[in-house]
Amino acid sequence: MQRSWSSRLVGSVEEWSPLESASNLVVGWLEAIRRLPGAGRATDVLHGRWLGHALHPVMVDLPIGFWTSAVYMDLIGYRRSARLLTLAGTLSALGAVATGAADWSVTDGRERRLGLVHGVLNSTATVLNAASLIAPKRYRLLSWAGGALATASAYLGGELVFGRGLMVDHNAWVGGPEGWTAVSKLEDIPNDGTRGAPYKGRTLLLHRSGARVHAMEATCSHAGGPLEEGAVKNEVVTCPWHGSKFRLTDGACMLGPATFPQLRLEARVQKGVVEVRGRKG
Ligand code: FES
Repeated sequence: MQRSWSSRLVGSVEEWSPLESASNLVVGWLEAIRRLPGAGRATDVLHGRWLGHALHPVMVDLPIGFWTSAVYMDLIGYRRSARLLTLAGTLSALGAVATGAADWSVTDGRERRLGLVHGVLNSTATVLNAASLIAPKRYRLLSWAGGALATASAYLGGELVFGRGLMVDHNAWVGGPEGWTAVSKLEDIPNDGTRGAPYKGRTLLLHRSGARVHAMEATCSHAGGPLEEGAVKNEVVTCPWHGSKFRLTDGACMLGPATFPQLRLEARVQKGVVEVRGRKG
């Protein structure tokens, strides 16, 4: 199948090897910030768990809206309004940068490399818009250039979400079994321990506490990490990839970067056999 010019362009950008070492450098800085007291809680807020999905797409609407409106105001001669809108866009861009950096810091591979380009373009757009406010004679050149860069960068943002599934619910399309289905012997699950049970190409996390069993989808809703390999403490499982925490009793997400709850299944034990059933597919 023929690839479009845009996918060829994105493909060559994300394979550009210097981006890997640049990403590692920036991630190192972000890791140092993450270790500061209270940073974990702040990062959780920036991911958007409290909102129920990623906060970054909400935040980017603000600068794009303000900057685009500024261009129109400038075109029809309302210079003062245009500058006010540019200022509002530049200030709101700081929220978009912070939320974007938080989400990007827990990516890997080509998503990380492409995300770095997205972030650099957006940061440059913000700097250009800020510069347009302090260099009035170059206002139009700088603010329009900033708006054009932000638009190009928005394409990459869309590619990361819609093309790579970044920060989408990795269990969105999973359902069933609709009827009670045997997936494991109770004795095969260690007491106060977990087991990954295969079911139709999926892996289910089974956690046993005496005769009680909890079941949930083992693919982490954040980026697909293997929850069956995660540590369980106080009926909360921690993803081994980026540390999201999910409550086994109802699947609630207790700590990001995940922003969606984990798909939980009902579980029961019948004559020593664990049976589960899930939501309708
Ligand atoms: S895959 Fe990222 S926290 Fe689970």
